[in-house]
Amino acid sequence: MDVKQVRHAYASVADLYIELFGTSRQVHADDLAFIGQHLSIRPGAVLDVGCGPGHITGHLRSMGVDARGIDVVPEFIAHAKAADPHGMYHLGSMNSLGVENHSVAGILAWFSLIHVPPQELDGVLAEFHRVMTPAGALVVGFFDGDEVAAFDHKVVTAYRWPVDEFAERLARAGFSEVDRQQRPSVGAHRPCAAIAAVVGSADNR
Ligand SMILES: C[S@@+](CC[C@H](N)C(=O)[O-])C[C@H]1O[C@@H](n2cnc3c(N)ncnc32)[C@H](O)[C@@H]1O
Repeated sequence: MDVKQVRHAYASVADLYIELFGTSRQVHADDLAFIGQHLSIRPGAVLDVGCGPGHITGHLRSMGVDARGIDVVPEFIAHAKAADPHGMYHLGSMNSLGVENHSVAGILAWFSLIHVPPQELDGVLAEFHRVMTPAGALVVGFFDGDEVAAFDHKVVTAYRWPVDEFAERLARAGFSEVDRQQRPSVGAHRPCAAIAAVVGSADNR
């Protein structure tokens, strides 16, 4: 993945992105419920990787979760810090999270893996697995499709995934799926999917 290209593309539309998507009120209620349900179970830090404007990080924090945001776009991190001065938001990349092995209880990657080329996904999931505690929880959101395919996302090239194939990649990286949610295309909205998984066996949930 060319992270610089992704950073540049989001930075150039950051104000508009924040206006259109930058509060939890703009997130589908089913998605907020799914995220909250799976990431508020255990004590410990939860990383919102590719947090964008930080609105979902803030939502998790409002539920009492020790959520922290990471993103490659300085404009998003600056906005998140201004909107939530007591929160922890850092400039950083999912390719190298810069945290200790087995130190985080959960990771949210909400539509942030969509720009990762399929051949690079295993490396990013391995980095997630490295930093998570033995029974850590992972929630991913992405665009659903019949086959793995690139498409012209409004900001920068993205990839859609069949849910079973994404779940297989998670399994290969050492995660077990515990729940999934799918929403068909509605109006201009593309079909979406979310998977909740845990490190190791599903008995760890
Ligand atoms: C579609 S936006 C989603 C943002 C936020 N999670 C949301 O739901 O609104 C994708 C986000 O992933 C971030 N991102 C993409 N590649 C990244 C990387 N390698 N490391 C960290 N963040 C990344 C982008 O900067 C952008 O904020």
